[in-house]
Amino acid sequence: MRFGSAGSINLRGLREGRIANCLLSVCYGVSVCQKEIDCAHMRVALREAGKAVGLTSPNPPVGCVIVKRGKIMSRGHHRRAGGPHAEIEAMKDLKAHALKGSTIYVTLEPCSSQGRTPPCVTAIKRSGISRVVYGSRDPNPENKGRAGRILCRQGIKVEGGVLEEHCDALIRPWSKFISTGMPWVIAKAATSLDGALTRPGNEGQWLTSEASRADAGKLRGEVDAILIGAGTLRKDDPALTLRDRAALRRGKGQPLRVILSRSGRLPKKAQVFTDDHRDSTLVYSNRSLRAVLKDLGARHDCASVMIEGGGKLLGDAFAKKLVDEVCLYIAPILCGVKGVPLVGAALPASRELLQPSVKRIGKDLRLRGLVSTD
Ligand SMILES: NC(=O)c1ccc[n+]([C@@H]2O[C@H](COP(=O)([O-])OP(=O)(O)OC[C@H]3O[C@@H](n4cnc5c(N)ncnc54)[C@H](OP(=O)(O)O)[C@@H]3O)[C@@H](O)[C@H]2O)c1
Repeated sequence: MRFGSAGSINLRGLREGRIANCLLSVCYGVSVCQKEIDCAHMRVALREAGKAVGLTSPNPPVGCVIVKRGKIMSRGHHRRAGGPHAEIEAMKDLKAHALKGSTIYVTLEPCSSQGRTPPCVTAIKRSGISRVVYGSRDPNPENKGRAGRILCRQGIKVEGGVLEEHCDALIRPWSKFISTGMPWVIAKAATSLDGALTRPGNEGQWLTSEASRADAGKLRGEVDAILIGAGTLRKDDPALTLRDRAALRRGKGQPLRVILSRSGRLPKKAQVFTDDHRDSTLVYSNRSLRAVLKDLGARHDCASVMIEGGGKLLGDAFAKKLVDEVCLYIAPILCGVKGVPLVGAALPASRELLQPSVKRIGKDLRLRGLVSTD
């Protein structure tokens, strides 16, 4: 069964607490009402999962809440790969009598096979939980729907696909990674209105405002690696470190810094080779971008990478259809034809962004969207 977002009753304001009884009294039918209640609790689980974004690679960010008689008893999220899954985090502080007869809401179908930790379905079976509601189905065809079959055999009610689109969006990078071995690729850049990555003459390096740069800095908290071309390293000597305080407080480590070069002509004194995080810098010489991405996935467990320019590397990435998502910070400025172009390669056909979203940040616009890789 598949549920959309809240329909006849707006539950945006009813985020948690004793919502079941209140809703039951205003709904037309129990089944419609139950769907609305499930959507509301799944939103809370999604917020929990949001806390895990960037921290769990190569595992997905997952959130969970446990509800009994309409009251949220506990919540949890997966904190790091190898650590307890969200379901276990949410269950751990509840006594057996509290768990008995409760409903567990989890953004991803509970795991049913042994990984670094035991399968969550086993813990759920033993817990006394009587109903399991999940959002995304496991993208692995071998596991898809398996938790439901196992739990149903124990008499536990199972409902899948609740707020599925929202839950799927949250785990896009991981879904791609586990089904293809290739990391999710975000192309990020600051551009002028006419698509230049650089300003004329010696006007300085920055096109966009400090607010945009801080926003872009947060994105580094969501990815496992940052890629640049050697041209950018030679010109800008960027640090490519994560400095966003909130992400660091949450325990996000420094992303890998990856430099691509064919010539091998790299400045030895560059920050990425000399600063405190120099051990997290990788150089690939004479490897295709596709091969680099594959290697980052296979040998470094990178489920998501961000290409931060320059134009030649971004051009290569777009031309080879390796980009999944774009995040552009567009400054209200014209730079003319001498600037480095955002896409420094010929494309065989135009590429359109899917589901574009625009946000104003200070004087700049941020444009985010997905790129179809078909
Ligand atoms: N506005 C922004 O957001 C932004 C972001 C980044 C950079 N920039 C600007 O962009 C300019 C640099 O851009 P650019 O287009 O000249 O250079 P670039 O894309 O940064 O680097 C090009 C170089 O990277 C290496 N390279 C690129 N693709 C490769 C691949 N597929 N495999 C192996 N090596 C590869 C080659 O290095 P070798 O030459 O060593 O062989 C190539 O010459 C700078 O001025 C910088 O300030 C702006």
